Amino acid sequence: MTNWLVTGGAGFIGSNFILHMLGGYAGVNIINLDSLTYAGNLENLRAVDGRSDYKFIRADICDRDAVDDIFKAYDVARVIHFAAESHVDRSILEPEVFVRTNVLGTAVLLNAAMKHWMRGDGFAPGKKFVHVSTDEVYGSLPETGLFTESTPLDPRSPYSASKAASDLLVKAYFETYGFPCVVTRCSNNYGPRQFPEKFVPLIIANALGGKMIPVYGDGKQVRDWLHVDDHARAVRLAAEYGAAGQVYNVGGQNERYNIDVVRVILTALRERLPDGDARKEHIDDGLIEHVADRKGHDRRYAIDASKIKTELGWEPETAFEDGIAATVDWYLANGDWIKNVTSGEYLEYYEKNYNGR
Ligand code: NAD
Ligand code: TYD
Repeated sequence: MTNWLVTGGAGFIGSNFILHMLGGYAGVNIINLDSLTYAGNLENLRAVDGRSDYKFIRADICDRDAVDDIFKAYDVARVIHFAAESHVDRSILEPEVFVRTNVLGTAVLLNAAMKHWMRGDGFAPGKKFVHVSTDEVYGSLPETGLFTESTPLDPRSPYSASKAASDLLVKAYFETYGFPCVVTRCSNNYGPRQFPEKFVPLIIANALGGKMIPVYGDGKQVRDWLHVDDHARAVRLAAEYGAAGQVYNVGGQNERYNIDVVRVILTALRERLPDGDARKEHIDDGLIEHVADRKGHDRRYAIDASKIKTELGWEPETAFEDGIAATVDWYLANGDWIKNVTSGEYLEYYEKNYNGR
């Protein structure tokens, strides 16, 4: 068995990644390190709870002793680092927590892995640290062009600035120590188990609740949507075969205007709700409200993912309309999940971000 330490495994992408790994790859033992912030939810991992090849450890990645203890207890072969504060709007309201978790937390993990993996002048064989980053570190594109791995970093939100800082720390560990690490930079993920502060599940949750769907500004911003299962495959390939010191862009080849994403989801909801379901009647464009734009809103993200295709044989497989239909089905089947996570702290955040609307 090889031990894979997954940070942030109780969140959206981390939990889907763990389910992907434990669903299809024998010989991997997953240790999930997560502090369970508002975005972490063990409910996401109920299907693997109790398995002998899965272990959950509640700890903060900024806690040096706790992280060190994990490396002492397990011979860790891979670190898959998802843990982060991940929501741009929250970073605009409260930047400091992003710096702490995303920058300091990454440094703590890098140091622990360095210390435990070092052998003489080099590193024990077969080790790799995968830092999961974002296309947002490249900034914003005009109407044409794509981000490649050599596009200069130009982050524009506190979130993307903290991710860019952590990417550069990882690069520095490679350049300085020859540390065995890889950075992946993906576009916007969607799929099951995504916290409803993010656009796709927010549209689904609000539409089902008959609430307005907030579209920032003119809704003509562009994102490149990637199904989370396609992303999980890419991260596994980077962890197994990615070359040390390399960056791999991961994109869905699926650019959409935000306003069109809303329309695709509303159509899927109308198609998938059973006849006679009262919610079906109020789901239409009348729910859409153009609200004040996000501060510093990046206009367009789009990824050139040809490097990961050529070098690791990865391509996205999920057509957007199919992925959205499956995602809508998941949220329809998991109404309690939405209810549980959209209480308490979320309501406070929602009031603050959308001015009580
Ligand atoms: P998420 O917010 O759903 O989950 C983050 C997880 O990290 C949660 O389980 C949370 O409890 C945990 N966490 C937060 N702070 C922690 C700390 N100090 N110690 C330990 N655990 C902590 O995020 P996500 O959408 O799953 O994103 C995962 C990673 O992918 C992030 O690094 C993010 O920057 C990156 N990413 C996400 C997207 C996207 O579309 N969601 C796109 C590009 C990159
Ligand atoms: P989001 O899911 O927050 O991801 P990111 O900001 O990391 O790309 O937002 C996706 C797009 O949707 C982005 O252009 C902002 C927009 N958006 C809205 O128009 N309204 C909303 O309420 C939210 C949360 C996002």
